[in-house]
Amino acid sequence: MPNASALLTIDFANLSEYAAPVLPAHYDATVAALDNTPADNAINNRIATLGRVLFHDRQLSVSATVACASCHRQDNGFDDPNRFSTGFSGVQFTTAHAMRLGNIRYWRPGTMFWDRRAASVEAQAIQPIINPIEMGWDASAGGVAALVTRLQALPYYQELFAFAFGSAVVSEARIGQALAQFQRAMISSNSRWDTAYAQVFNAAAPNRNLNVTLPGFSDQENRGRQLFMTGQNAGGAGCSACHLPPSFALAANSQSNGLDAGETRVFKSPSLKNVGLSRAFMHDGRFATLDAVVEFYNSGIQAGPALDNRLRGPGGAPQRLNLSTADKAALVAFMQTFNDPNFVADRRFASPFR
Ligand code: HEC
Ligand code: HEC
Repeated sequence: MPNASALLTIDFANLSEYAAPVLPAHYDATVAALDNTPADNAINNRIATLGRVLFHDRQLSVSATVACASCHRQDNGFDDPNRFSTGFSGVQFTTAHAMRLGNIRYWRPGTMFWDRRAASVEAQAIQPIINPIEMGWDASAGGVAALVTRLQALPYYQELFAFAFGSAVVSEARIGQALAQFQRAMISSNSRWDTAYAQVFNAAAPNRNLNVTLPGFSDQENRGRQLFMTGQNAGGAGCSACHLPPSFALAANSQSNGLDAGETRVFKSPSLKNVGLSRAFMHDGRFATLDAVVEFYNSGIQAGPALDNRLRGPGGAPQRLNLSTADKAALVAFMQTFNDPNFVADRRFASPFR
């Protein structure tokens, strides 16, 4: 058993539960069907615990100043409150906005990043490490091999890798596996919306009762729920056709949401759980508030080859929802109910360093 207690708060005799979390009833087989966990990297509490240490360890950057958690902050639903993130040098910035990490497992394509360029959560984990702005282990710094050499020389990682994998060997594949397991364990299922929905959930009811009045919600929040969950053809705003309850991860077949005219690229969205804890929205963080996001869907969608049909009105032109001021505010109020205080306070995901 690792003897890293001088450094880490982890109780190795009594590990946190990552492999078999307790989930509400509405996280049932329909949600499990969206899980991108590969057969060869199912969550194991020892390996996920190693992933937790790696995620919070500044040793993962060349300068030993930046951890994954520096840009993915638990207080913000594992997003960065800044529009662009500061990399290891302290003076260079990312060109994309960071992404919240809750519910990344409920996206069956498994592809990661806004533009879906990483094939899996495992593959993604190495990208910030070798990124010349983010953590700095590019070819000039010796690549991942140089990071492996650094970690292999740290006694606590010899213990942790042996504990997790049965041998003390540090490797790129093991780093990716451990970080992926830890991040897939980040399920956000205890927002105010979840608590209210749990009281009306019925798997056999039409639409699983997703669009019935929620107990404990204000009239405004319930109006926002109705707009979010109802298709445009029935007087709603059609949001749930792409941002799928109950995980609010994106539908795999979503095309572009029309941020820019003539767009040919197709981006993904992180789960909207905890979206109210973000301070910048969309791949380039162009919107600073959820009000601005809603106004975009109301009046700002741009035409382009990749624009999704769900966001087109009659004749294929970009939708114009013509929402009232009160309805726009109701949509924002509803999205605020996706904030999950248990998730942001969950010790299993917090830094294990003393
Ligand atoms: C310097 C800031 C920074 C650091 C450090 C960083 N990230 Fe990120 N992360 C980002 C940004 C920015 C994006 C979006 C980039 C893009 O799509 O081009 C992102 C995206 C991601 C995604 C994609 C989520 C999704 O839904 O597709 C995952 C997963 C992720 N990061 C995990 C990690 C892990 C694991 C580490 C540490 C090994 C890490 N990040 C380190 C800024 C950072
Ligand atoms: C056709 C599918 C689709 C529909 C319908 C849709 N969205 Fe989106 N949404 C997306 C995509 C794709 C993105 C990410 C776009 C990007 O950043 O390039 C996104 C991003 C977002 C974001 C920002 C997420 C973040 O982390 O920055 C919010 C908030 C959001 N949508 C809310 C809504 C609301 C509210 C509605 C209904 C009015 C809606 N969406 C309808 C596909 C959709």
